[in-house]
Amino acid sequence: MSILVTGGAGFIGSHTVVELQDAGYDVVVLDNLSNSSEKSLERVSAITGKPVTFYKADILDREALEEIFAKEDITACIHFAGLKAVGESVAKPWEYYENNIAGTLTLVDVMRKHNCKNIIFSSSATIYGDPAIIPITEECPKGICTNPYGWTKSMLEQVLSDMQKADPEWNVIILRYFNPIGAHKSGTIGENPNGIPNNLMPYITQVAVGKRPELGVFGNDYDTHDGTGVRDYIHVVDLAIGHVKAYEKILTNPGLGIYNLGTGTGYSVLDVVKNFEAATGVKIPYAIKDRRPGDIAACYADAAKAKAELGWEAQYGIKEMCEDSWRWQSQNPNGYDE
Ligand code: NAD
Ligand code: UFG
Repeated sequence: MSILVTGGAGFIGSHTVVELQDAGYDVVVLDNLSNSSEKSLERVSAITGKPVTFYKADILDREALEEIFAKEDITACIHFAGLKAVGESVAKPWEYYENNIAGTLTLVDVMRKHNCKNIIFSSSATIYGDPAIIPITEECPKGICTNPYGWTKSMLEQVLSDMQKADPEWNVIILRYFNPIGAHKSGTIGENPNGIPNNLMPYITQVAVGKRPELGVFGNDYDTHDGTGVRDYIHVVDLAIGHVKAYEKILTNPGLGIYNLGTGTGYSVLDVVKNFEAATGVKIPYAIKDRRPGDIAACYADAAKAKAELGWEAQYGIKEMCEDSWRWQSQNPNGYDE
């Protein structure tokens, strides 16, 4: 009995493989390495002391998926594989819809042919659009996404929910992540963005390590306590543990479950800068810039449902998130490249 982890060489996937192996589960990883390195999996093995079964394959490649399902005894899939750069998705919508939507449709079709009807899907708080209620509960209506990446998540939630409704043998758990940052305590695995980081924490750590001169703060005139954007940052190890809890829930045949994975606390851009400086002793020069198109003022979770139904709650605070992001970046200034 193994859990197939698609996108398992990536940022959240690699941390989840650590937690699954540490909890005693057998894992098979599939990744096309389009946004990751196989080295992450070597490091996962070094952390857990267990080998990782890895297939370099694409979720669009039906034959490769068929081979994996024929060979391995897969009972559930944790599905991380996907493209995730918001800006790139605006420039290359077709590539995002094909990779994320056609890829997922191919994956779930092969799954059902092999009678594997348990899936945990990586969704995002982005599906709430500009949220109608804050803190955001799972009942908050889905909103208008501002980019094709967000629409792929919103549409795939609908596809998986409809499939589960039509065939109750399916168990579908949709996890809506807020803003994952941090890294494993060892400092050996972490987030490894290509080129200029889009997201706040990788940008801050690259300024800290001397790769970029200063942080641009995108707007200081939002309706928030200091005018900068507020988000619910969550430690990636907490997020990874949330997947272990979701897998344990799937074993009880829950049907459809939708959960926010966040801490419930919002921090502004300047709060994160101050906390990073306090946790690491490294100064982050910054300049206020224009608002970034598509950004919203504030987004943070009501995480009560995951606590009540999955028995999951975030353990780590902003201090550990900053310390661990920095340990990873300072020990690996070029990510997985030597
Ligand atoms: P990541 O890019 O580090 O990991 C995704 C992995 O999927 C990569 O290793 C990539 O090589 C692989 N992949 C992409 N397309 C593939 C394909 N067609 N076939 C096989 N493998 C493929 O990203 P991450 O931050 O670890 O995100 C994991 C998932 O969580 C994604 O689905 C992402 O959209 C979602 N998510 C991420 C965030 C975030 O802020 N990081 C927030 C919400 C949701
Ligand atoms: N920000 C800056 N400067 C930067 C980068 C970001 O000021 O260089 C600000 C943004 O304006 C925003 C906050 O920092 O106020 C967080 O921005 P991120 O880009 O780190 O995160 P977002 O909340 O915009 O989006 C992220 C992922 C999405 C995902 C969403 C919710 O990129 O894919 O979290 O999970 F959908």
